Amino acid sequence: MTDLPALQSGLLSEIAVADLAALEAVRVRALGKQGEVTALLKTLGGMSPEERLVEGPRIQGLREAVTEAIATRKVALEQAALDARLASEKLDLTLPAQAAPQGSVHPVSQVMDELAEIFADLGFAVATGPEIEDDWHNFTALNIPETHPARAMHDTFYFPEGADGGQKMLLRTHTSPVQIRTMMTTPPPIRIIAPGRTYRSDSDATHTPMFHQVEGLVIDRGITLGHLKWTLETFVKAFFQRDDIVLRLRPSYFPFTEPSAEVDVGFTRDKTGRRVIGGAEPDGWMEILGSGMVHPKVIASCGLDPAEWQGFAFGCGIDRLAMLKYGMDDLRAFFDGDLRWLRHYGFAALDVPTLSGGVGA
Ligand code: PHE
Repeated sequence: MTDLPALQSGLLSEIAVADLAALEAVRVRALGKQGEVTALLKTLGGMSPEERLVEGPRIQGLREAVTEAIATRKVALEQAALDARLASEKLDLTLPAQAAPQGSVHPVSQVMDELAEIFADLGFAVATGPEIEDDWHNFTALNIPETHPARAMHDTFYFPEGADGGQKMLLRTHTSPVQIRTMMTTPPPIRIIAPGRTYRSDSDATHTPMFHQVEGLVIDRGITLGHLKWTLETFVKAFFQRDDIVLRLRPSYFPFTEPSAEVDVGFTRDKTGRRVIGGAEPDGWMEILGSGMVHPKVIASCGLDPAEWQGFAFGCGIDRLAMLKYGMDDLRAFFDGDLRWLRHYGFAALDVPTLSGGVGA
């Protein structure tokens, strides 16, 4: 005969100190299919009615006592685990605000602020235009007619035909349409930059379907390539915060500028071999922007007389500028919204770039 009281007190004292895993082991060992208590219950079938009358309640009692002890212990363990978690994950809302995690300014926003600050000092205002553009402002007025191969080069996202009374609508492929909108609404002289989002159907480590550009436009009397070169040099030196910057203007082609130049900035290498923008004797060149003298046809299509008004324009990738200045190497991470990336590369909200205080980190 099994000593039921001994079995019960043995099980109960095991249960009293068990953790969740041990508790489950006890349950299986006592109440599982092959369990000790289960085996006892099975013996009831072979007993005489009189015997069963005595043993039945004793064995059932044992089963109930063990079942209940396991349930009680389980609730206590789960409550303790919850308490521990609540204690370790608690947030003290009475702490001073500075100690709590704060939001940060995205590097693209920061660089846009830096650009606005640098160009404001040179007398440039900030202009904007719509991201949903019509075909005329994005292409035609910029001397890119319907059949021009540059339209294919731009991998344009078009809206379904007829979405806006016949005008073909699209996501602007560059910030250059803001040149047109500004010339059509503002009498010269004009000095503007136009930072903003642009879109092309393109995606890899260095291209995202949405990216950022800044356009620059100057329209006045007697503007020459010399003004363009000086402005770009002054801008790049202020942006990278060093004077030993060498720019290289390479002849290029854009339909809306003539002549056109792509601009490279010289880099040198630090001790670890990393590229660093600047250095009087560059080890190599990185392309940073496209530019040129505004094409007379573009000036004319905005209703200005190209014999009287000339100017220069440039367009520059902002994301790339941010990467070169702050050292990120994958463009896609810019738009993943990963908080760890933002905490690492973001800027404090009150760290507003100013020329006197600095336009760097
Ligand atoms: N819009 C051109 C581009 O996206 C850049 C550019 C702007 C070139 C202004 C010349 C003048 O590639």
